[in-house]
Amino acid sequence: MSESPKRVISPDPRPDDRLDQALRPRKLAEIIGQDQICENLAILIDAARKRNEPLDHVLFYGPPGLGKTTLANVLANEMGVNIKVTAGPAVERAGDLAAILTNLHAGDILFIDEIHRLGKAVEEVLYPAMEDYALDIVIGKGPSARSIRLKLPRFTVVGATTRLALLSSPLRARFGAVYRLDYYDPAAMKKIVDRAAKMLNVPSQDGGIEEVARRARGTPRIALRLLRRVRDFAQVRADGVIDRDVANQALNLLNIDPLGLDEVDQRVLMTIIQKYNGGPVGLNTIAASISEESDTIMDVVEPYLLQLGFIDRTPQGRVATRAAYDHFGLAFPEETQQPRLI
Ligand SMILES: Nc1ncnc2c1ncn2[C@@H]1O[C@H](COP(=O)(O)OP(=O)(O)O)[C@@H](O)[C@H]1O
Ligand SMILES: [Mg+2]
Repeated sequence: MSESPKRVISPDPRPDDRLDQALRPRKLAEIIGQDQICENLAILIDAARKRNEPLDHVLFYGPPGLGKTTLANVLANEMGVNIKVTAGPAVERAGDLAAILTNLHAGDILFIDEIHRLGKAVEEVLYPAMEDYALDIVIGKGPSARSIRLKLPRFTVVGATTRLALLSSPLRARFGAVYRLDYYDPAAMKKIVDRAAKMLNVPSQDGGIEEVARRARGTPRIALRLLRRVRDFAQVRADGVIDRDVANQALNLLNIDPLGLDEVDQRVLMTIIQKYNGGPVGLNTIAASISEESDTIMDVVEPYLLQLGFIDRTPQGRVATRAAYDHFGLAFPEETQQPRLI
């Protein structure tokens, strides 16, 4: 996804996030938050183990940075199996997928990130593979062409997507378990930042951790990134200890407001409010008028603004809510609002 590289709160992975690998929970018991998903996964794992079978195919969806890749790896660790990692755009031809499939061993997990970006021809190979553990290969051309069916080992597909709606329904139907990851609540966010600070040996006191957690828009990847930036600030401008004041100064300097909104979020809201009179206005129009990718707006900005209750979705487009006006200290235009169909 292309967006301004400087955007600190982008939940997409960035090179300096490699450190996160070390912080990534390995076992189900280390996962913080997402309690219901974890409970369901524990049952799924237990049942598969008892029957001595591979896991059912699992699909995770939700905004970036919430733990989809982490959970895929946790599943592999818990089952004690290998995980082969690929992504929708990386599997260009049906033959690429066939090569991956024929190299799998029984029980292995094939993790397909951004699975909504698999091509049609590739998907067609995946269907029988997921359903019957079979690979259909066409040999020869023209009238003499025939198809042979290769047996594949019993394996598990774990898919991840930020856009469930873009997944074709036959593909979606082949997943036995589908889980939606949601933004983390403040208590879970605090635990995640706390754990990371301890693992990175970053000293903190007096609400410093809470401040970082509060401004990370419910997203672990952003929390870890903010923690690193605040740690830098603490080391350069303070005595190395993160307290509320230090965290506040560092985050203000990064232009992240108390709710975790950055300039892009603010521009989106101000565009709806000022340029389009509160809306309704389509996402693509908003994206064009602030020169941002509409993917970024759809995957990252909109879900969080919806979660905050700052925008509503209507059939005519997005509208800014009273809460959004309040946030910017603007008067909500009671009379001039267009009638809204929700
Ligand atoms: N439940 C969690 N508890 C602790 N850390 C987490 C949790 N979920 C994610 N993380 C951290 O956040 C980072 C981003 O998670 P990731 O699985 O890569 O997100 P996604 O694949 O959904 O974009 C990981 O590197 C991991 O360290
Ligand atoms: Mg991921």
